[in-house]
Amino acid sequence: MSNENSLLIRTLRRQPTERTPVWFMRQAGRYLPGYQRIRGGIDFLQLCKTPELAAEVSVEPLEVLDVDAVIIFSDILVPLEAMGLEVEFGDRGPCMSDPLRDRAAIEALKIPDPVESTGFVMDVIRAVHGRVNGKVPVIGFAGAPWTLSCYALEGSPSRTFAAAQRMIYESPADLHLLMEKIADTVIAYLLAQVEAGANALQLFDSWGGMLGHQAFEEFSLHYCRRIMEGLDGCGVPRILFIRGAGNHLEKIAKMVNEVGVEAVGLDEMTPPEQALTIFGDRCALQGNLPPQALFASEEDLRCRVRELLDAFRGHPGHVFNLGHGILPPTPVANVQAVVDEIRSYT
Ligand code: CP3
Repeated sequence: MSNENSLLIRTLRRQPTERTPVWFMRQAGRYLPGYQRIRGGIDFLQLCKTPELAAEVSVEPLEVLDVDAVIIFSDILVPLEAMGLEVEFGDRGPCMSDPLRDRAAIEALKIPDPVESTGFVMDVIRAVHGRVNGKVPVIGFAGAPWTLSCYALEGSPSRTFAAAQRMIYESPADLHLLMEKIADTVIAYLLAQVEAGANALQLFDSWGGMLGHQAFEEFSLHYCRRIMEGLDGCGVPRILFIRGAGNHLEKIAKMVNEVGVEAVGLDEMTPPEQALTIFGDRCALQGNLPPQALFASEEDLRCRVRELLDAFRGHPGHVFNLGHGILPPTPVANVQAVVDEIRSYT
């Protein structure tokens, strides 16, 4: 199957397909034995920067789960490091030893050349292609400016990202400067991924949903739009995922229609009926089983998978996915049961 004709890409291009394709976020994550083995011997960022190993963990889900797409193994924080921030992955998640504290620090950030500074990501894409041989599409990704700003300003994992939240009101011009620099960086970074062979691109705004309704438009949606527009004509489908944005679906749909974004990822908080009413069939919809549902009994889990497939039946471009990333202690057999149920039911 060539990439262009693969089920996922046709679905993302909004054409009716015979069965529902499936892939997962964080599929190459901590729940898989091969990943655990490789990670046991190497630091997380080092793994991101070692293309052969990163390609190996990228394709493990294809081998173990037989999903319909491979997402490259990397992290959304990789371009921040290229901009000049020191990024570390500790046990509690990503940290910056020197988070941005003032305008001068923002001004000092570079807009890096993606190939020069993050060429290893492009090497991962090429190495993944070498392994999947056109069998399934390869998905590249980046973080959206709001989510990346949260990490760059806070410096450590947080429930509230108070530093970024506060800046919205305290020094919005500085925040806009930061977000513009990140947006330019992300556009160039994603275009380089297409150049290297990515067959689809996903933009993650994981913390977009924590914003007030006005701030959501100004700081999350506006910059997602800029990036989607910057990718217009790049030749591969664009997937937009803003987590926690259930209250903003109309605004997102308006933007998606105006810009022609090919696909939207839905988190598990969004009722499918609501998403179907608001988005209609103008874009592919990806989602949205709760990652926690993978801890249900097999019978219950299979039933939930069928319910979700039924909910999206009639939509010409449903891509089965979780509402968010797979949780580390998830039993592999349960993930396999999900894929199996999708295949036998559709
Ligand atoms: O499916 C995949 O494995 C693709 C690769 C991928 C990772 N991170 C690998 C990873 C992708 C697409 C991401 C995106 C990412 N990273 C997001 C956006 C998506 C989302 O989850 O909302 C965010 C917010 C991050 C930042 C990040 N990276 C956090 C908060 C953490 C620690 C906590 C967690 O959820 O795992 C990471 C580390 C990380 N990124 C791991 C993996 C496999 C775990 C690292 C490890 O301990 O081995």
